[in-house]
Amino acid sequence: MAGQRAQWGSRLGFILAAAGSAVGLGNIWKFPYITGENGGGLFVLIYLACIALVGLPIMMAEIFIGRATQSSPVGAFRKLSKPRSPWMGIGWMGVVVAFIILSYYSVVAGWAMHYTWISLTDSFTGKSPEEIGNTFTALFESAKLNLFWHTLFMAITIAIVMGGIRRGIELCSKILMPTLFLLLLILLAYAMTTDGFGKAFSFLFAPNADKLTSAGVLEALGHSFFTLSLGMGAMITYGSYLKSKDDIVAASITVSVLDTAVALIACLVLFPIIFTVGREPSAGPGLVFVSIPIAFAQMPGGAILAPLFFILLTFAALTSAISLLEVAVSYFIDERGWSRAKATLTCGISILVVGIPSALSGGTKFFGEQFQTLTSYLRINDGEGFNWFDFFDYVATNWMLPIGGLGIALFAAWRVGNKAREEGFKAGTRFGKLYWGWVFLLRYIVPIAVLLVFLNAIGVLDILGVTSDDAN
Ligand code: PHE
Repeated sequence: MAGQRAQWGSRLGFILAAAGSAVGLGNIWKFPYITGENGGGLFVLIYLACIALVGLPIMMAEIFIGRATQSSPVGAFRKLSKPRSPWMGIGWMGVVVAFIILSYYSVVAGWAMHYTWISLTDSFTGKSPEEIGNTFTALFESAKLNLFWHTLFMAITIAIVMGGIRRGIELCSKILMPTLFLLLLILLAYAMTTDGFGKAFSFLFAPNADKLTSAGVLEALGHSFFTLSLGMGAMITYGSYLKSKDDIVAASITVSVLDTAVALIACLVLFPIIFTVGREPSAGPGLVFVSIPIAFAQMPGGAILAPLFFILLTFAALTSAISLLEVAVSYFIDERGWSRAKATLTCGISILVVGIPSALSGGTKFFGEQFQTLTSYLRINDGEGFNWFDFFDYVATNWMLPIGGLGIALFAAWRVGNKAREEGFKAGTRFGKLYWGWVFLLRYIVPIAVLLVFLNAIGVLDILGVTSDDAN
């Protein structure tokens, strides 16, 4: 085996890399549109509770497991239990999920790059809402464009991960994350000058139960896994490059707060712009790729702000993508003894290939409509089915991440010995007093919350009459 295992160069480097993993399309693309769909206010409050009571304790558990074992997930579960232990299945699943999520994530990241390109070269200014709507449809349906951007994005991700922990991932996070924060603040400053800011602020923070259903509550919980990069070992992997005395409690709190702040600020950037031009934030996934360009086209300064926004979105996606690839790569390096170059190229190119059906979901009947018909036979998505792209997202986010998160919580809280767990949590932190609170959340609150998600997903809550669609 190769000599010394890699470690982060500094504490800040780790925090920025972990925040880079957490802050991604989930924050800037997905969170604003699900908040819009669920009516703001109360949904946001519930989301914050999910982050604090479920997400944060799992993040601490993941970083703890990684730091304690100095191993990628499969090896980590073996070291803390025993060889051939079934717990290692959680690690295996993480590797598979990395392939699945990154394969379609890269397609959306490709859209962000395409929009950066359009806004720089052609600009949206002066185009009618209809033309802009057509731009998105044309992109979605173009096999050529999707494959081109998907390949380019994967190539960049591969190049960074190939550079290793310090000279690849850490260096890139140290450049991209501060730039991302700066861009976000510039956009926020602009949004604060628009007429829609007040309305956006109260939409986001005034508890308003109008549109919230219990399905929305469960969506908030599911999203808290995705947005914090939990349930598939990304934080175990990043944690495994920490030194044994690094403070995992402070690090987890910092990363969760940064992630939440970015998600809320993204709403405070997008909603005012949307309200100012008289549109509604409930446009679904098209919010960022249709409503926002339409708004920029009509606003003073839009020609400058649009590229800034899409660069921000691309950077956010990139730092998350490298963490997804690193989970797969670290497995082959640690467990199979491959070189980083071999592992990165093999995994990266495989993910590129696995992503092709997602890239073609809008452009071919087979991965679009026909796949949708097939999944509708399986009664997925209330019998409506999904195209390939949405199917991958559905399986990974709604099922695999919560299952992984539950497994990690149960493992850390019940399987790991008391002494190792307590010492691990308390090593290097000022927050040792939180130890029992953490264990309590992992033991009881997390399992109950995740169980509720599953009962809802398989329709048991509907049968019991707990969920309702009274919002409509
Ligand atoms: N947290 C990322 C986002 O919000 C997505 C992600 C999920 C990254 C799982 C790594 C692991 O976009």
